[in-house]
Amino acid sequence: MLTGTATPAAEAQSAGARAILHKPFSPLDLIGLIDELDETPTERLVARSEGDAEQLMIYARDLSRIVEVERAQRRVLQHAYRQTVAALADALEAKDPGTGLHAQRVQHYAVTLTEMADPRLLDDASLEYGFLLHDVGKIGVPDKILRKPGPLDDAERGLIEMHPAIGVEILSGVGLLEGEGLSVVQSHHERWDGLGYPAGLSGDRIPRGARIFYRAALSWEKAMDEILSHDGSQFDPKVVRAFCMRERQLHRIYEEFSIVAA
Ligand SMILES: [Fe+2]
Repeated sequence: MLTGTATPAAEAQSAGARAILHKPFSPLDLIGLIDELDETPTERLVARSEGDAEQLMIYARDLSRIVEVERAQRRVLQHAYRQTVAALADALEAKDPGTGLHAQRVQHYAVTLTEMADPRLLDDASLEYGFLLHDVGKIGVPDKILRKPGPLDDAERGLIEMHPAIGVEILSGVGLLEGEGLSVVQSHHERWDGLGYPAGLSGDRIPRGARIFYRAALSWEKAMDEILSHDGSQFDPKVVRAFCMRERQLHRIYEEFSIVAA
C-alpha cells in the first residue's frame, strides 16, 4: 500500500496490504520492497515525512545511485568483453603463432587510419574488436594448411578463403561485435576492384571498416609501394589518402611492434 496519510501498518495489514510505504517514497525502496514480497511475504514500514521537495530529493538521490551502479557495471562488462576478446585472439595465436602480434599491429594501424579517413566509424565500439579479431576464423582452418611453407593448391586456397565466413560464424550473436566489427571480419579480404573474397564486393559496397584494412606481411617500404600502386584497384582511394597523411605515425606503430616481435 502506498499512502500519503499516516495509516498505521496494522490497519493497512488488516485491510489486506502485505506492506505499506508512506509518501514521499524512494523508487528504489519500492523496488526493493516488491522484490522482498516476492520472496517472503512480510510487513514492512518505511516511514517518510511528506513534502514535494523531499520527494524530489529522494528521486535525485536514487537516480545518482542508479547511475553510479550502472557505471560500475559497465566497467565490469567492458573489462569482461576485453578479456574475452583477448582470449579469442590468444586462441588464434596458439594455433597460428605470429597472428596475435599481427592482429594487434593491424588494430593499431586501422584505428589510426580510421581517425583520419572516417572518424565517426569509431563511435561504433565493435569496430576495434573487429580489427583485432579479423582473422579469428583461421581457428577453423586445418593447421597443415595454415603452416604450409610452399604455395597452396586450389583446394587449400579455398579452405583458407573460408576464414572470413568461419569468423562470422564464431562471432555472430556476440552483441559487442554486431555492426561494423562483424563486417570487418566478414569483408577484410574484399578488394576495391571487386577481385577479392568472399563476396567479390567492389567499391562503396564494401563495408567502410573493412576498406581500412591491408595486409602487412611486407617491409614498410614494400608495403608503401604496394599501397600506392594499388590505389583504386585493391584499395579505396580515400583510405590511401588517409594513409599518406598519417604515414609517419603508422610507421612508428610498425617500428614499435617490430621491436616487441624481435
Ligand atoms: Fe584474413
